[in-house]
Amino acid sequence: MNYAAGKLQKPVTDALRALVVEDLPEMMDIADQELRAKSIEAWAYALAESSFQRVSEIPGEGNPGLATLRRGSQADHLRGVAQFAMALTDSFVASFPEVEINRDIVLSGALCHDCGKAWEFDPVNLKRWRDDPSRAGRPSLRHSVYGVHVCLAVGLPEEIAHIALAHSREGEFVGMSTECVIVRNADHLWWTIAGATGMLIPESMGGAEARGVCPRQLRSDATPRAA
Ligand SMILES: [Fe+2]
Ligand SMILES: [Fe+2]
Repeated sequence: MNYAAGKLQKPVTDALRALVVEDLPEMMDIADQELRAKSIEAWAYALAESSFQRVSEIPGEGNPGLATLRRGSQADHLRGVAQFAMALTDSFVASFPEVEINRDIVLSGALCHDCGKAWEFDPVNLKRWRDDPSRAGRPSLRHSVYGVHVCLAVGLPEEIAHIALAHSREGEFVGMSTECVIVRNADHLWWTIAGATGMLIPESMGGAEARGVCPRQLRSDATPRAA
C-alpha cells in the first residue's frame, strides 16, 4: 500500500459520511448547513486517508499508548468533549448574556478537534514510524497538525483549523480564539475526569498521578451503557 500524507486510501462516499453521523450524532446540531456538511466531510475525508472505516474504530486514547480508556472509542471522547463544550458555553452565556460565543464554531470545533487522529492512530502509520523513525519521524505529524490539513482540505473555515491545531500542545505557541479556549479546556477536562474516575488504564496515565490525579476504583455493580 502506497501510504502518503494527504493521499486518499478510499473514496469519500455518502455511506462513509453516514457512518460519521452515526458515530457523531451531535453533527446534526450544527445549525449552519454549510458548516455542518463540511464538519461531516472533515471526518469522512480523514477516514478516507486512513485504514479506519469509521470514527468508532479509532482507539479511545489521548495519544497512541497514552491516556487509554478502559472501554469506549474516539467517538465517545469526541461526543463527550462536544457535550462538555456546549454545556460550558450555554451556562456561561446564561449568566452573562452580554458575552459573544459562536455556538456553531464551538460545536464543530469540538467534533473536529481530533480529526487528525485517523492519521496519527492508523496502525499502518504506527508500524511505519516505529520501524524506522529516521525516515519521517515518529509521528511524522501529530494529530493536531494533521487535523489542520484535513480541515483546510475540505474547506472548513480557519476558525476550526485553528481549534484542531491549538486544542493540543501546539496551542502554547499561538494566541487562542475564544471558542478554542472553550474546546481546549473541555478536552483537557474530559481526560482529567476520565483519569480521576478510574476510566483510564493506570499504566497509560503518563505521570498524571504525579500531577495530583488520584484514580478512584470503578463501581463493581454498574452495568455499562450499551454502545
Ligand atoms: Fe487531541
Ligand atoms: Fe481530544
